[in-house]
Amino acid sequence: MKEIDTLLTNNKLWAQNVEKSIPGFFRTLENQHKPKYLWIGCSDSRVPADQLIGVMPGEVFVHRNISNQVINTDINLMCVLQYAVDVLQVKHIIVCGHYGCGGIEAVLQDQTPGLLAHWLENVKDLMERNNTPSLDDMCELNVRLQVRNLALNSIVRRAWDQGQTLYLHGWIYSVSNGLLHDLCITRGGRST
Ligand code: CO
Repeated sequence: MKEIDTLLTNNKLWAQNVEKSIPGFFRTLENQHKPKYLWIGCSDSRVPADQLIGVMPGEVFVHRNISNQVINTDINLMCVLQYAVDVLQVKHIIVCGHYGCGGIEAVLQDQTPGLLAHWLENVKDLMERNNTPSLDDMCELNVRLQVRNLALNSIVRRAWDQGQTLYLHGWIYSVSNGLLHDLCITRGGRST
């Protein structure tokens, strides 16, 4: 089981290195969880939230699913969202899509297997409303749609109504060069 053992060995080295460069790092983290950001991204292994925004453990609360969907009946995401907004009081929610997203591509090619067709229904609607969009266009449109869904979400709206500082951002990541692109659709602030 060499490929699995390697991961555990890597972990020991990583923990040692972090502790060496920031003595007491883990001990300090043990008693606090105050991330400022909630990241909603794709499960794609090429889009690792923490790494590509250069943050350390403790800085970003993360939820990932296939094609970074924000679906108001998704109990998993709704629990994450409620905890992030009500308890952690994050200041920013980032929806991050990526170019070449496999889920979006499957919808475009009408090749979504089984459950995925159900999961990606909103993407299919989006595609049908837009005239033969390219894959990259669809990946961007998908981020825009999910930010819109968030802006209509009752947890988010209640936070805004109560004057809580909360911004929503839509970003897209390019797997081919490692860069994030801001779609400039930031919403929110103290209230809307
Ligand atoms: Co993806």
